[in-house]
Amino acid sequence: MSCEKCELHKTRTNVVFGDGPPDAGILFVGEGPGEQEDLSGKPFVGRGGKLLDQYLEIAELSREKNVYIANIVKCRPPQNRDPKPEEQETCINWLREQTRILQPQIIVCLGRVAAQRLISPNFLVTKEHGEFIEKSGILFMGTFHPAALLRDPRRKEDALADFLALRAKAAELGIIDFIE
Ligand code: URA
Repeated sequence: MSCEKCELHKTRTNVVFGDGPPDAGILFVGEGPGEQEDLSGKPFVGRGGKLLDQYLEIAELSREKNVYIANIVKCRPPQNRDPKPEEQETCINWLREQTRILQPQIIVCLGRVAAQRLISPNFLVTKEHGEFIEKSGILFMGTFHPAALLRDPRRKEDALADFLALRAKAAELGIIDFIE
C-alpha cells in the first residue's frame, strides 16, 4: 500500500497484490485490476472473475487449493486502459518476487498483455493459446482474457479446450489428482 513507484498509485483505492495459497502449483497472471478489484483489493472478482471461476472449476482447480492469481500491474489503470510499458516495467519486480516465493510449476497468462510480457513480445493469443512453453523450468501457457470472452463468446470453446489441456497438465504434474 505504500508503493508510489508509478503514476497509478495516485488514482488507486487498493493495491491488488494477489490472492491464493502460498503452495499453489499454478500462477495465473492478468494485466491489472479493474474497478471491482480496485474497490475490493482482490484480483478477478468482477464479471470476468466469475467467468474465470467457472473455467477453474472445469479444470478442477480452485483459488483456495491450488491457484494463485496476480496481475502484471497491481494498481488499476484509469478507465481500464492498458498498463503503460513503464508502469509494467516498474511493477514487474513484485511479480518476480511472487514467482520466486511461490515457485509455481505452471504460469497461465490471461490475455495479450500478460502473455506478451511473460512469454514473448510477439505472442498472438488467437494463434498460440493453449500451447505450453518451457522457460527456466516453468511451463507457460497463454489463453484468452475473461473480459475478451465476455466481449466475444465465440472464443469460449477455444478457452474451454485450453483449460482442459491445463487440467491434463496439472494431473500429469501431480498438482491435481490423476484423472481417468
Ligand atoms: N482484469 C485483470 O486483468 N485482472 C484483474 O484482476 C481483473 C480484471
